[in-house]
Amino acid sequence: MSDVLNRALLVTGASGQLGRRVVSLLLERQAGRVIAATRTPDKIADLAERGAEVRRADFEDPASLAAAFAGVERMLMISTDAIDKPGRRLKQHQNAVEVAARTGVKHIVYTSMPNPEVSPVIFAPDHLGTEQAIAASGMTYTILRHNWYADFLVATLKQAAATGELFAAAREGGAAYVTRGDCAQCDAAALVSTDTGKRTLNVTGPTVVTFAELAQITTKLTGKPVRYVAVTPGERKDQLVKAGLPPVVAEIMVSSQVAMAQGTMGPASTDVQTLTGHPPISVEHFLSGQRPALTGA
Ligand SMILES: NC(=O)c1ccc[n+]([C@@H]2O[C@H](COP(=O)([O-])OP(=O)(O)OC[C@H]3O[C@@H](n4cnc5c(N)ncnc54)[C@H](OP(=O)(O)O)[C@@H]3O)[C@@H](O)[C@H]2O)c1
Repeated sequence: MSDVLNRALLVTGASGQLGRRVVSLLLERQAGRVIAATRTPDKIADLAERGAEVRRADFEDPASLAAAFAGVERMLMISTDAIDKPGRRLKQHQNAVEVAARTGVKHIVYTSMPNPEVSPVIFAPDHLGTEQAIAASGMTYTILRHNWYADFLVATLKQAAATGELFAAAREGGAAYVTRGDCAQCDAAALVSTDTGKRTLNVTGPTVVTFAELAQITTKLTGKPVRYVAVTPGERKDQLVKAGLPPVVAEIMVSSQVAMAQGTMGPASTDVQTLTGHPPISVEHFLSGQRPALTGA
């Protein structure tokens, strides 16, 4: 038991929304030596005050990583947000995996995406390549394939409630949306676990939810009638770009809807329950706590 409490557990990307939550959960659980690695240590001074050891780590700067990962037994590698140029994020992740293995990290937990082998989502090659780098690294691992965050539905559904129309290129397909909070709990659980296997798990909500169902839920929660309007991928991209989204972001959104149409954003799994001991929060339950944001009240 004391060995478990002395283990050094490291979280990369600790100033991001997910990373911060995971570090916080680890500190609440008194999970051992908690190391929070980030490009911006100033942003997590509060976590340092609560007992996290803060180290600087930038995947673009391999020299920073050897010092950051020294003495670490288990590490959560949070995927970065460098999706501006194809290949950039994969290179960052490969840097981090290579240094982790060389520095003696024994087990790595990684935040991947659903079905990266077959997914049409434009950044799927980043996640597939990272999973392959991890498998080849010699470290044991837990790949946690996070489904789409339910949290991101709020802005889309707020607009749908305002206009009465919910556009998407997902046909009759959907995603097994999961909350960022459930993802953080799974990431923390996999990191503190004593598991030293090589596992790939699907972090999903309880069911696949279609856009027609999202329209119904929005109608129910806001009292404003909303209908789903199925459009083609090209039409949806044009709408999003005209609304002011950068083309790469529009491409990500549309390709994720194509993935839903093809069925690769599901199925739902029971892995959140297995990892955390509780069932995942459903989309409707999550959105019911977001009523003021959905109605703009
Ligand atoms: N499943 C989904 O629906 C979904 C949605 C959005 C994003 N994601 C993925 O999940 C990750 C976490 O989500 P989030 O909501 O926490 O995103 P976020 O708040 O935008 O955080 C971005 C993360 O990327 C890290 N990062 C960026 N550049 C880095 C670099 N050069 N070296 C090391 N880390 C770097 C940041 O770490 P520091 O700033 O602390 O260094 C931070 O943890 C995202 O980065 C993205 O890959 C998933």
